[in-house]
Amino acid sequence: MEVIIQPDVTAASQLAARMVARQLREKPNSVLGLPTGSTPLLLYRELVALKLDWRRVTTFNLDEYVGLGPDHPQSYARFMWENLFRQVNILRKNVHIPDGLAKDIPKFCTRYERQIRQVGGIDLQVLGIGTDGHIGFNEPSSSLASRTRIKTLTAETRRDNARFFGREEDVPHHVITMGIGTIMEARQVLLLAFGENKAAAVAAAVEGPITAMCPASILQMHPVAKIVVDEAAAGRLQKTDYYRWVFAQKPLWQRW
Ligand code: GLP
Repeated sequence: MEVIIQPDVTAASQLAARMVARQLREKPNSVLGLPTGSTPLLLYRELVALKLDWRRVTTFNLDEYVGLGPDHPQSYARFMWENLFRQVNILRKNVHIPDGLAKDIPKFCTRYERQIRQVGGIDLQVLGIGTDGHIGFNEPSSSLASRTRIKTLTAETRRDNARFFGREEDVPHHVITMGIGTIMEARQVLLLAFGENKAAAVAAAVEGPITAMCPASILQMHPVAKIVVDEAAAGRLQKTDYYRWVFAQKPLWQRW
């Protein structure tokens, strides 16, 4: 794991944008795994500003609320089109987002996994993290080998996400999410976490034991996982001096 501590959200998002940009330049037909939520907002704005070529890029989103169609203001499909896809030259046919209105959810999930395999797997998976350590919508106790499937949200996640819906009662109980096994097959993983309310989850994921009770901790087993945090989200890490030193010693060719 490589932990990169940046002074603030802007610097962290700019660094993450450079990492994604480098991936797209090195492999113009890259397959990206993408998250939603407040964390990647600035990253997406930076990516739009970089005016990269997305014509050959394929994307797979991590998750979606069951019962919300792409026109629903809180659907992740709507979020992605508004915040990224509509502003870059990606082809609609190359965008994949779990279908919250799928009639046969298990069948849909099997097809989603197949589509990922058919394009050769995910090159770079970008992730946020929930306050309970979830990645995608893989809540604590999720199988660390899980595949794309339906999940039930915890009360904590529904409370956290109520800010987008206005009322907690309106937050769906069920979601479709890529599994932890699916995420772990990506060739590279880039997890972003900002703010003090993520500090405990980040510390558990990076320096705690690998456990299904903190799904993000499985990233310790990923060969190429980068964790980009702001100072606040790094607040509970023990080895910050070491992480900063490693980053400062990086040869120029290894930087972004
Ligand atoms: C949401 C999403 C995750 C996201 C996380 C954090 O529920 N399913 O993919 O990383 O929770 O959200 P935010 O970035 O808004 O803090």
